[in-house]
Amino acid sequence: MSSAESTVVMIDGRIVSPDKAVVSVFDRGFLYGDSVYEVMRTYEGSVFALREHMDRLYRSARSIHIQVPIPMDQFTDEVCEAVEASTNPSRVVRVHVSRGSGPMDFDTGMAQNPVRVIVVSPLRPPSEEDYQRGIGVALVRTERTVDNTEAAGAKVANYLVSLLALRQAHLVGAKEAIIVDGRGRVLEGATSNVFAVSHRVLLTPPDTEGILPGITRSYLLRAAESLRVPVRVTTLTRGDLLTAEEVFISSTSREVLPVTRVDESVVGTGEVGPISRAIHEEFRRLVQENQD
Ligand code: PDD
Repeated sequence: MSSAESTVVMIDGRIVSPDKAVVSVFDRGFLYGDSVYEVMRTYEGSVFALREHMDRLYRSARSIHIQVPIPMDQFTDEVCEAVEASTNPSRVVRVHVSRGSGPMDFDTGMAQNPVRVIVVSPLRPPSEEDYQRGIGVALVRTERTVDNTEAAGAKVANYLVSLLALRQAHLVGAKEAIIVDGRGRVLEGATSNVFAVSHRVLLTPPDTEGILPGITRSYLLRAAESLRVPVRVTTLTRGDLLTAEEVFISSTSREVLPVTRVDESVVGTGEVGPISRAIHEEFRRLVQENQD
């Protein structure tokens, strides 16, 4: 089956054929990236952490003053309907709300009728080799779109900064960019959260630094607690990553992906570490428990 055949698109509650799935050129998501989104995934056919993702979507929308036009329960039902219409066993579900269209104007008040788009497509997880050997990441000094704004921490769809950071990482053969801000703080990946292990303590930057509070991240903090791995949610620096025993990134589609190289430096022994592995296994157990 081609991926076009196995992709389901729903716009404003109606399933439309992917080749006819279009939004207006006046849509502010298209014009200005004036929109919010979520990426979820399924395990054995059901969406993992659906409630948490929908909560975050509505929170993101509120923080940029988009009024989602339907209640959360109804939108959640639409997500489930789109997922059920898909035939892929493992699916990635993108749920998007744009401010909508109106006269071409910068005033957010000019837009009417926010548009809801759900796209369900086949999941493309990292390769088994990446999980076994770990990936390389590049440290990239930049600021994200919503940093130091009232919308800090929102999942807005304007990913230009992340895309450019990722491009820089790819140019040096790395698979993820790790964002370092002007104060030298390590914040998160271009599309992931970041963790380090130092003296067997798990370290990750706090929400208050404007990171996207990852849903996978919240489960990993729980996993660490049930494994009795001490956790410190604290500011991380370049030096912390370069001297860490273990580093990994987390996201919905990648779960826990070990990092064995940061720029030119090998992390720890250069092999995937025991705490990364244990936390990944515990995460999978929590996912299983959630599905039951
Ligand atoms: N992105 N930080 C950023 C900047 C992200 O884009 C993501 C995920 C995360 C991890 O969040 P979560 O665990 O909730 O997936 C952190 C998704 C996967 C994406 O845009 O594709």
